Amino acid sequence: MKTHETIYLKDYKKAQFIVDEVDLTFDIREDQTKVTSILKIHKNLDIAGEKTSLVFDKGDFKIASVIANGMLLLPGEYEAKNEYFKIARTPDTFDLEIITILKPWENTSLEGLYQSGNILCTQCEAQGFRKITPFPDRPDVMAVYSCTIIADKTKYPVLLSNGNPIKSGNLDNNRHFVRWEDPFKKPSYLFALVAGDLAHISDQFKTRSGRIVDLKIYSEKENIDKCGHAMSSLKQAMEWDEKRFRLEYDLDLFQIVAINDFNAGAMENKGLNIFNSKYVLADPATATDEDFMNIQGVIGHEYFHNWTGNRVTLKNWFQLSLKEGLTVFRDQEFSSDLNSRGVKRISNVRNLRGHQFSEDSGPMAHPVRPESYIKMDNFYTMTVYEKGAELVRMIHQLLGEELFQKGMNLYFEKFDGMAVTIEDFVAVMEDASGLDLSQFKLWYFQSGTPAVIVTRSYDHQAKQLILNFEQKTLPDRNQTEKQALHIPVNFGIIDSNGNDITPVDKTLLELKSAKETFVFENISENSLPSLFRQFSAPVKIKTDLTNEELAFLMANDTDEFNRWDAAQTLFFNEITKLIHSIQANTELSVSSNLIDAFKKALQDQTTDKSFLAKTLSLPLETEIKNHFNLVDVNAIHKARLFLKKAIAGQLKSYFLNVIKVCSKSDPLSISHDAMANRSLKNLSLSYLGCLKEKGTIDLILKHYETALRESLPQILFLP
Ligand code: SER
Ligand code: ZN
Repeated sequence: MKTHETIYLKDYKKAQFIVDEVDLTFDIREDQTKVTSILKIHKNLDIAGEKTSLVFDKGDFKIASVIANGMLLLPGEYEAKNEYFKIARTPDTFDLEIITILKPWENTSLEGLYQSGNILCTQCEAQGFRKITPFPDRPDVMAVYSCTIIADKTKYPVLLSNGNPIKSGNLDNNRHFVRWEDPFKKPSYLFALVAGDLAHISDQFKTRSGRIVDLKIYSEKENIDKCGHAMSSLKQAMEWDEKRFRLEYDLDLFQIVAINDFNAGAMENKGLNIFNSKYVLADPATATDEDFMNIQGVIGHEYFHNWTGNRVTLKNWFQLSLKEGLTVFRDQEFSSDLNSRGVKRISNVRNLRGHQFSEDSGPMAHPVRPESYIKMDNFYTMTVYEKGAELVRMIHQLLGEELFQKGMNLYFEKFDGMAVTIEDFVAVMEDASGLDLSQFKLWYFQSGTPAVIVTRSYDHQAKQLILNFEQKTLPDRNQTEKQALHIPVNFGIIDSNGNDITPVDKTLLELKSAKETFVFENISENSLPSLFRQFSAPVKIKTDLTNEELAFLMANDTDEFNRWDAAQTLFFNEITKLIHSIQANTELSVSSNLIDAFKKALQDQTTDKSFLAKTLSLPLETEIKNHFNLVDVNAIHKARLFLKKAIAGQLKSYFLNVIKVCSKSDPLSISHDAMANRSLKNLSLSYLGCLKEKGTIDLILKHYETALRESLPQILFLP
């Protein structure tokens, strides 16, 4: 059995041989694909001497020939194993031509060059390029690429690669070719090729400096009418990146291809993004609102990588979060700016709490910037992506938008065209702001989710509200002793009339030691703290707020996220109480406080309906289970259902009214309003549905049947 060795960051060494130019030719035939790779190479003389051998990464394929500086090498003059390719002695500067033979239809790893249906395509991140040709397959080797693709004209009329097409033409035997050149230096993981019989839609985008960029989205012919939403999302993403980050697209052409067999969501190859069809194709007849939102988000994510990942890339794979955390932050901001910020934040935090927190407390726990890995492909984790994005969000929180953007400017000014580290990123943020982020950086190196426990006291005489914070991160196999982190607490105070009375200089508290106390002067009695607004840090928050106080915050907090969070905690507390009753076999009941708070919220006309739908959704069983060490599955299920039925039973007429009001919008529109109406209506139906009463079941059936009719092609209704 093949054993994998552990790769350590501390062993990182610069590449000894640098490839400056890569010229690839893919000759695609029925029985094989012949790849000719011509490399311009120089030795890194700072670290490589006369006797240093050239060692490239290499996959399991045949090498047909090797030519160095025009001289054919005999098989004894190089070594070609399944893992590496080696030439013992080379000059300091030389050209190397390697011809390899691939069988893409046999490649089921979905890495390197493979076949999906009748389409040939590549996936090179993280280490797939070595499956195409021997190469120093590491992100800090950045080269300029050109690529010629030759194939049968009938089977592969479309031949795509990175950059701009500069030449194409017909050849003998019904064959043709296209030559592509990408003027920007890039690491091998961003190389891409697609060949197939694809349809496309086109559009254009005018950048703010006035350049016209051609936009093309490719898919199999039968799906091409489902690409419209992806195209409008792309244009929104291009416009948003110019406005918010002042980043303009750099090539004359931007292409997206939808592929059915794809390992991940999508891939940001320079100028040629390849997507899992799921994140491109949307048929208004069948796509859900969530599908539309996901497509917009993923199209944005891959597009934003053009600067955060491609123009500035990674020094090594330990830095993966430098591009992923930052780009997830950017795509979250994109979706928040275009849709509802509150709703977006809620779904990100649910995802984080539901999945990343459990990763961070289990056997997979690892720091956002790991020290070691066994297989890089296993490192595309919730921690690297989602917690990584939270760390960027905290930096944004500490600096504010203006200084954060100044930091981003500096990042591109300093590092464009380079392969850098997370520490380089934090350093430019420090330079731009003058802040000391040295303690903050621990977030990148220390695994585990900190718990922050907040307790209150009130001094009647002095009119002081006193808050005690304690932070604790449990030891794990990564670090047996955890240090205190620099935690930003976005903060507010709500008085008993529901007014936000936060002192202007106290909207951001910064925790830096294990225990800290904050005293707020001149605070009226019964005022409540609103903690970690917008979920300002990825921590487990424990407060001493009572259910009554939570219900008050649910109705009155000026921070949307915390209104939702108060509701969720209230629901969770109620469910926990029910679970205990079920386990003790005592009678179940739901507090009237909760029903009242729910009713008030349901009748609220001023709040955005999509936000309301999130606020009034009960936590999922999988989310509830995360709070327990011993999981009583039956009790969780019963308790949640009991609460849902109690709410539905007592507030039936209110739900019916909401359904009536929310049914008025256009069922096929994907405007925010229409989606918001649908989400609140569906939530109300789901509450009523659990009653299993004839009237409500009829209502749901009618909803199902009309939804179907709305989505069927018109032609079916012709008399
Ligand atoms: N780099 C891809 C992404 O966008 C994953 O393969 O996350
Ligand atoms: Zn990404």
